[in-house]
Amino acid sequence: VWPPVRGADWRGRKLLVTAGPTRAYLDPVRFISNASTGLMGFCLAEAAAARGAEVVLVAGPVGLDTPRGVRRIDVETGAQMLDACGRELGSGEVDLVAMVAAVADLIPAEPATRKVGKEQVLDAFASMRWEAEVDILATLTARCHASPEAKTRFLGFAAQTVDEAEAPRAEDVETELRRLGAAKLERKGCDALFVNRVGVPGLGFGSSTNAGLLMFADAETLDAGEPRPKQTLAHWLLDQLAARWWSDEV
Ligand code: CTP
Ligand code: CA
Repeated sequence: VWPPVRGADWRGRKLLVTAGPTRAYLDPVRFISNASTGLMGFCLAEAAAARGAEVVLVAGPVGLDTPRGVRRIDVETGAQMLDACGRELGSGEVDLVAMVAAVADLIPAEPATRKVGKEQVLDAFASMRWEAEVDILATLTARCHASPEAKTRFLGFAAQTVDEAEAPRAEDVETELRRLGAAKLERKGCDALFVNRVGVPGLGFGSSTNAGLLMFADAETLDAGEPRPKQTLAHWLLDQLAARWWSDEV
């Protein structure tokens, strides 16, 4: 049966979901970005809204329709995404922030304010200075931990490549994902992290299916199993998070 009948178990919860890539502009018409299509984040937003949650979706540039019942804020850059998230978090109780977006890691220190002509591109861009993009997730968790009454939970997403040569067996891949995930969970200060392997068919960016490990900061790691449609994976994630964090509430 699709959609699965889970009732409105997320009613009364507010979710902030980010999705898609961000852009780092070199000049007004050129940018660097990444291969994120936004599908995983949009599926999570859609699933939560279908289960009764109030959902705000902060979306980078993607070609996807807004899921039913979701309030969408479109952004392009990491700075705009941080801004939009900060405003939503400041404006009321958010139960869960799911940072599914693939935020660009580096941005030009001084982007050109006018379009650079073809004759000047090498001069202008080859020696360009870069700086690290603001870490949205780490910034938001730090802000939240600074106010002790805040009860917002943070879920990060990490797409990792695992080198075939270094991890020839399936259990080596899992060990490596756990190692990378545990370090990132700690570094980001988030409550949970979904770690998925990319660079192999059926997983991650651009794929309609996904699989991975749901790692909790203070509990055991859960394996999402065989690759499955991102729609069903989204529901599985909501099942696990609700069971872990809110099952004792009425
Ligand atoms: N993230 C973020 N701001 C950034 C980079 C990442 O908020 N500037 C968030 C992503 O949305 C994701 C999580 O951090 O939820 C992990 O992203 P990832 O790219 O895996 O981590 P990085 O810290 O950027 O490390 P690396 O790219 O080296 O793996
Ligand atoms: Ca990154």
